[in-house]
Amino acid sequence: MKYSFLLSLLIGSVAASLPAINVTGNAFLNSETGERFYIRGVDYQPGGSSNLTDPLADVEVCSRDIPYFKDLGLNTIRVYSVDNTLSHFECMEKLADAGIYLILDVTTPGTSISRSNPGCSYNADFLQNIFATVDAFANYTNVLGFFAGNEVVNNEDVLFTAPYIKATVRDLKKYIKARNYRQIPVGYSAADVSSVRLELAKYLNCGNDSTARIDMLGVNDYSWCGHSSFTQSGYSEKVKMYSGYSVPMFLSEYGCNTQGTRQFSEVASIYSTQMSSVFSGGLVYEYSQEDSDYGLVEIDGDSVSTLDDYKNLRSMLNSTSDPQGSGGYSTSYKPSECPTDWNFTITVPDTPEDAQTYFENGAGAGYGFEAETQESCDYDDLSSVSSQSATPTDSSTASQSSTRASSSSSSPTTSSSSSRGVGTQMQASTFYSILMILSALLI
Ligand SMILES: *[C@@H]1O[C@H](CO)[C@@H](O)[C@H](O)[C@H]1NC(C)=O
Ligand SMILES: *[C@@H]1O[C@H](CO)[C@@H](O)[C@H](O)[C@H]1NC(C)=O
Ligand SMILES: *[C@@H]1O[C@H](CO)[C@@H](O)[C@H](O)[C@H]1NC(C)=O
Ligand SMILES: *[C@@H]1O[C@H](CO)[C@@H](O)[C@H](O)[C@H]1NC(C)=O
Ligand SMILES: *[C@@H]1O[C@H](CO)[C@@H](O)[C@H](O)[C@H]1NC(C)=O
Ligand SMILES: *[C@@H]1O[C@H](CO)[C@@H](O)[C@H](O)[C@H]1NC(C)=O
Repeated sequence: MKYSFLLSLLIGSVAASLPAINVTGNAFLNSETGERFYIRGVDYQPGGSSNLTDPLADVEVCSRDIPYFKDLGLNTIRVYSVDNTLSHFECMEKLADAGIYLILDVTTPGTSISRSNPGCSYNADFLQNIFATVDAFANYTNVLGFFAGNEVVNNEDVLFTAPYIKATVRDLKKYIKARNYRQIPVGYSAADVSSVRLELAKYLNCGNDSTARIDMLGVNDYSWCGHSSFTQSGYSEKVKMYSGYSVPMFLSEYGCNTQGTRQFSEVASIYSTQMSSVFSGGLVYEYSQEDSDYGLVEIDGDSVSTLDDYKNLRSMLNSTSDPQGSGGYSTSYKPSECPTDWNFTITVPDTPEDAQTYFENGAGAGYGFEAETQESCDYDDLSSVSSQSATPTDSSTASQSSTRASSSSSSPTTSSSSSRGVGTQMQASTFYSILMILSALLI
């Protein structure tokens, strides 16, 4: 009895996987059926940045919420920050069982490109930590893609951070290749800054080095408010503006909340041929109710209550099917032209010398939410950094959660650096090794 339980556990764990989603032209395709894939998603980070917790490392948390994802009819969630010292096995399996993909931001508030000093924040410790996150997730076929950054450029004065975003994209893609992982798409999630959004989108997708170009672009967009329309909201202009963009685009955050209860009438446009030649769906900001008041549900411990926004979104998603056929995507678009009129150098910086070893030998264990790498340029190793720079980096920390998110975004992790969770990781892998051995003995 016990053995068959163990066996079924093991077999169950092997069986649960979803077909990978690939990038073909400016579309996502289901790699098994070849059908176009439209993201029907929500952004998911209960606690937000003010109480940063990894929802995919706690099976009670994800099990509490996955039934609601299914009930909403979702196929994707986006998570802004995870703790790369913990095991995500159970939650990733449960998501796969529910038919749900993950878009994961690999940065955390302490490990991301800093707006105030991007050159310093782009360092070997930063790369080591985000590569460790890639290691922790690359095996799951329901990882749709990674974001290298979120809203780093949040106004035109910090456009000079863009080359560092691109360097991060390049290094992630290089790492995925060097480690022989599946070709997981790497992209960026852009703030809706009208003065630079097109220029930045083009820059991230320009140049001869295909490794430095993004594979997908998320745009955060809150322009459809209340009873609006495709033209009134400005969505129509955006479709025009981005038309011909050569990689898949989607709304990485949407759902304006300035007009009271949200009706989500934009859903009917998003999943229609009005938009499908450029956009591949989107993610509603956000699943849980936080200070910023964008929630679909209210969470209290292990109980979840749905809000009016939830019911409206559910009903809109259910009455809106994906466009038939190809939706008008194209495989013949070319990468964008690089900007010629920026007032700083657009050259993508070289990978830090100290990071070369990760491509050859792997990144090793990550440091989870403890990691504070934004000022690591002055130091040789991470441990010295986390004990010396206890102060969270300034408020220009460019990572988790948009300007909309409750942005008390100082990192919750100061340097109480002892417990880095490595023990947890060991325990989990030991557990699975024992399972493996037991079942091998039985067969
Ligand atoms: C993506 O998957 C489809 C369906 O299997 C396949 O036809 C296509 O060649 C794949 N594209 C890439 C870029 O791997
Ligand atoms: C922070 O999140 C944890 C885990 O979800 C929860 O137990 C705790 O109550 C939260 N703390 C605050 C102050 O909200
Ligand atoms: C991913 O799969 C490879 C090959 O099966 C294995 O060696 C590696 O340990 C796995 N990584 C994780 C984090 O599970
Ligand atoms: C470049 O232009 C931006 C936006 O106009 C401005 O804020 C910034 O100070 C300029 N930088 C330099 C180096 O001139
Ligand atoms: C890109 O490649 C083309 C053709 O090989 C070359 O003429 C051009 O100078 C290159 N551009 C850059 C920015 O390297
Ligand atoms: C709407 O809900 C019904 C019943 O659950 C389901 O069969 C149908 O596929 C859903 N439609 C969409 C577009 O999600």
